[in-house]
Amino acid sequence: MSRKFFVGGNWKMNGDKPTIDGIIEFLENGPLDPDTEVVVGVPALYLEYVRDRLPKNVCASAQNCYKVAKGAFTGEISPAMIKDIGLNWVILGHSERRNIFGEDDELVADKIAHALDEGLSVIACIGEKLEEREAGQTEEVVYRQTKAFADKIKDWSRVVIAYEPVWAIGTGKTATPKQAQEVHKKLRQWLWDNVCPSVSKGTRIIYGGSVTAENCKELAKAADIDGFLVGGASLKPDFVQIVNANAGN
Ligand code: PGA
Repeated sequence: MSRKFFVGGNWKMNGDKPTIDGIIEFLENGPLDPDTEVVVGVPALYLEYVRDRLPKNVCASAQNCYKVAKGAFTGEISPAMIKDIGLNWVILGHSERRNIFGEDDELVADKIAHALDEGLSVIACIGEKLEEREAGQTEEVVYRQTKAFADKIKDWSRVVIAYEPVWAIGTGKTATPKQAQEVHKKLRQWLWDNVCPSVSKGTRIIYGGSVTAENCKELAKAADIDGFLVGGASLKPDFVQIVNANAGN
């Protein structure tokens, strides 16, 4: 089963309108590989601004949303609202949500399940911290995080899993292609054993953590790396090269 290469940009809490105009300009100029699906994660306030300006081959995504449709949850947005403005993607479970804002596996799983039920597509993020890797707990952690939401997912066709080792995010310490491939392969095996073979074969597992224009091509060659989630470099024209990392593979 072929998995379309997927590159997500995660702008995090960055950008103002002039900066966003600059990003849109380099996305427009591209050219972007037509065989890669491209989604950019935009601060909620700018979602409509970006929606109206992005080239047609790039989709805008929210960076977070809550686990219910509406109610007394000050400061939150819901999947229904994201759908209401005509958008279809959300990033959930990012390590910054987990580690800075205290989101646990159960909350992340509830959010993912609700977003899927409301018809969104989800970039579901997992990844171990440095001390967990050093303690030999990488597999245990990523399996636990994956199981929490896998148990609640009915339709996997709108799920992309982003493996982002926390020690690699924003640090300049990218996982080597070998390190990343090792975890991606194990995750695919986990999906085979615990969900089903077709989900294992069909689900995109993308890598995130200090992906750059320099290291993306080598990472893209790994058999189980189906794309990237890109933070810092998604704000720069280098992002175009990352989108095109799989061209010719
Ligand atoms: P980075 O961030 O590319 O800046 O390391 C990745 C992410 O947090 O998704």
